[in-house]
Amino acid sequence: MAFYEWCDMLETGIPDVDEQHNAVLRMLNDLHESLNRGKGKEEIVRVMDSLMRYTTNHHETEEKLMQEHGYPELSAHRSEHLALRQNAAFFQECWMKTPDSVRSMALVKLFSEWFITHIENTDFRYVEFLKVKGITPTSLQ
Ligand SMILES: [Fe+2]
Ligand SMILES: [Fe+2]
Repeated sequence: MAFYEWCDMLETGIPDVDEQHNAVLRMLNDLHESLNRGKGKEEIVRVMDSLMRYTTNHHETEEKLMQEHGYPELSAHRSEHLALRQNAAFFQECWMKTPDSVRSMALVKLFSEWFITHIENTDFRYVEFLKVKGITPTSLQ
């Protein structure tokens, strides 16, 4: 069973954003599974790196969308993205240096909670803004 299941409450209604959020949750589940199965450090680092890369791309997608539509809280949202990535990178680095000093399961739980909390509290603010403006992006390409 997946560590984190997608739930409808996280659905923004913007197809590309929902697809990306889903993909990040899948990667968090992959990370959880790799740690759970005691996979080698190399494999775990590979999963962590692709999670970080994908998250950066996702943040860029959202920032572009907010910029295009003149979202007034873009700068605060961007700072939150940056802080989220910096915190994750810090803990990733600690884990890579001394895996035993960081409880791996606590790490993936922390990553997931940051990510989900950000969707619920921060992403939904721009989603609401777009809705009020009558903007319903179908594709962000
Ligand atoms: Fe997001
Ligand atoms: Fe966001």
